[in-house]
Amino acid sequence: MASLTLPQRIRKEFPILQREVHGKPLVYLDNAASAQKPLAVIEGQREYLSNYHANIHRGAHHLAQLATEAYEGARTKIADHIGAASTDEIIFTGGSTDAINLVAQAWGRANLQEGDVVLVTQMEHHANIVPWQMVCSEKGSRLEAVNVHEDGTLDMADFAAQLERHRPKLVGVVHASNTLGTINPVADLCAQARAAGAVTLVDGSQALPHLGIDVQEIGCDFYVATGHKAYGPTGIGFLYGRREMLEAMPPWRGGGEMIKRVSFEGTTYNELPHKFEAGTPHISGGIALGIALDWMNGIGTAEISAHETALVQHAHSALNTLSGLRIVGTAPQKVGVVSLVVEGLHPYDLGTLLDGQGFAVRTGHHCTEPLMDHLGLESGTLRMSFAAYTTREEIDRAVIALDRAISMLR
Ligand code: ALA
Repeated sequence: MASLTLPQRIRKEFPILQREVHGKPLVYLDNAASAQKPLAVIEGQREYLSNYHANIHRGAHHLAQLATEAYEGARTKIADHIGAASTDEIIFTGGSTDAINLVAQAWGRANLQEGDVVLVTQMEHHANIVPWQMVCSEKGSRLEAVNVHEDGTLDMADFAAQLERHRPKLVGVVHASNTLGTINPVADLCAQARAAGAVTLVDGSQALPHLGIDVQEIGCDFYVATGHKAYGPTGIGFLYGRREMLEAMPPWRGGGEMIKRVSFEGTTYNELPHKFEAGTPHISGGIALGIALDWMNGIGTAEISAHETALVQHAHSALNTLSGLRIVGTAPQKVGVVSLVVEGLHPYDLGTLLDGQGFAVRTGHHCTEPLMDHLGLESGTLRMSFAAYTTREEIDRAVIALDRAISMLR
């Protein structure tokens, strides 16, 4: 008997994939916005809430100890998953946006000065643009962006030129674009940035669900990611920071947990990682994010990546048969994201017709408005994005449904 494909093995673990939408079987192709959750994650969160919920770190009782062990155990899983040198280098955050705001506010406010440059790329998510604009406007610094080619690859010559011209204080770059799918050569980019004297931040939101990650191989100072795109819950993510960077940074948010001693005369701050984690955290989210990483590692990121690469190639060939359709983002190295436009038609109209047939896709600017402006795509794109459970057959059906929608609107 032929061995089962990855989706054949795992789809039954995702209860939501059994449901219908508008009377049609759900075909979920909006994974770059948020991935669905396997039973292990759903049950793990339920188990914590049903059996050992308590606040962490402080309690003298058994449940507090169980909850603390599970939460801190999840921190260790994240550190192991991304190759951090130590668990203390992992700060739990509300997601990638929260993590970048932490770096912008804690590192940025302490280190940026008038005339300094923060260099990002034109393919950044708003989360890696707006926090820098906020701190830059406060400090009199400025934000510059590296050019992106028509095919969705980063303009490496422009990157080198802007490093030379601006000598930026910080370089922020997305590991994998949520809109184009492009996988950036982050190790090379960080090496060049470091040689030019810049601190480096990599936004791994779209990379975590698709790629094996090793922050020491990448050589970045900071790496951020969110849980919900990687089969975990919403409202939880992490910041990895090299120990010496985190130690040199002042805390951002003040409150309980992040302190060593408080008096009205003054406060001393806690050790890493707690210095950056004020207040009671998203305990169930942290635990479930650890379970989501276990779930992914149970398959292996290499198999997930290979599956999604094959899906992207399949989707590109199938979509290219439709007339008037153009794929936006054809870089040779892509995660499971396919953006497209159809001549003369609004992506939202196509998305609405697809929804009526049970296909969940996303339309618009995907929180990358400057990229859309740069590519001259005022109405944004229609985006199909894949996960470990996506099948070739679902893509084939989506292409047929899209063809039908195009005919209806023409
Ligand atoms: N950033 C999310 C997306 O790509 C919401 O759709």
